[in-house]
Amino acid sequence: MAQQKISLTRYLVEQQRADGLIPGQLRLLLEVVARACKSISMAVNKGDLGGVLGSADSENVQGEVQKKLDIIANEVLIEANEWGGHLAAMASEEMDSIYVVPNRYPQGEYLLLFDPLDGSSNIDVNVSIGTIFSVLKKPDDHPGVHEADFLQAGAKQVAAGYCIYGPQTTLVLTVGHGVAMFTLDREQGSFVLTKENIQIPADTKEFSVNMSNMRHWDEPVKRYIDECLAGTEGPRGKDFNMRWIASMVTDVHRILMRGGIFMYPWDKREPGKPGKLRLMYEANPMSWLVEQAGGAATNGKERILDLQPTKLHERVSVVLGSKNEVERVTRYHDPL
Ligand code: AHG
Ligand code: MN
Ligand code: MN
Repeated sequence: MAQQKISLTRYLVEQQRADGLIPGQLRLLLEVVARACKSISMAVNKGDLGGVLGSADSENVQGEVQKKLDIIANEVLIEANEWGGHLAAMASEEMDSIYVVPNRYPQGEYLLLFDPLDGSSNIDVNVSIGTIFSVLKKPDDHPGVHEADFLQAGAKQVAAGYCIYGPQTTLVLTVGHGVAMFTLDREQGSFVLTKENIQIPADTKEFSVNMSNMRHWDEPVKRYIDECLAGTEGPRGKDFNMRWIASMVTDVHRILMRGGIFMYPWDKREPGKPGKLRLMYEANPMSWLVEQAGGAATNGKERILDLQPTKLHERVSVVLGSKNEVERVTRYHDPL
């Protein structure tokens, strides 16, 4: 008999049943997010035929010009999630403040954060993009829901994942017990388990960073990359390869699949900002996935998952991936 395919639904039900790892409401939430991603995937696939490419002529709270797909993906995620009764509120890169579930729907105990469309600069050139999400529990010591309820360290996440819209549509997920990957079967319309217990090798010969910013970096980051570039003739004694897709979700996915180190470090272009990437809906979920796969994630000095957020759209410097390389970069930042 052919091996049975395990759908995302079955995977989640089995996790809930066997290990009690996922409460029912969280399972529902993850299924709804997956359904929304499926719908975003369809919109992405249509491209010009669906009129979804190009700019929306508006700016988000971070001062970035929004693409049509940034807005479409944001709306799909909100509409899919607001009525199910599993959420209290949502927060997104594309919304200034939190979106509280309207009164006409029951309020659940979870908070959902997302970057609806990561890698927006790739949309119009038909290069992989994705959705990143993070789930927190709403503190139960007070009624209602406020922005402050979202400001929890990444270590408190109860689920995190992303969906990539690339040659295949793949959903990668953790609920704190390893990382699993699901591939969208378009004929069946469902996500099918294609990899379990994903592990990032501790060593690598591949780095991922926007090299055009090199002259703006801090010394420790320059030193690390200089040593990689020196290859067999330098202190590392081996040649390194470079890959940069310019969508964090895809660059980190490659690292989950075959190892590597990804960096978006602080740089002097805007010295007042701790980094480019956002802590709560980019760095935290990706860092947790990477740690769950045996890798590491720091801001150059501290573990990202231990950082206490002070605002929703806070930015952070990011170094993540193969453990020994991340530890090396972090060591280079240590003044001792
Ligand atoms: P977003 O599209 O959600 O704004 O995020 C884009 C981010 C990240 O995915 C990527 O690593 C980085 O921006 C690329 O930025 P630069 O091309 O400016 O280096
Ligand atoms: Mn992003
Ligand atoms: Mn985005």
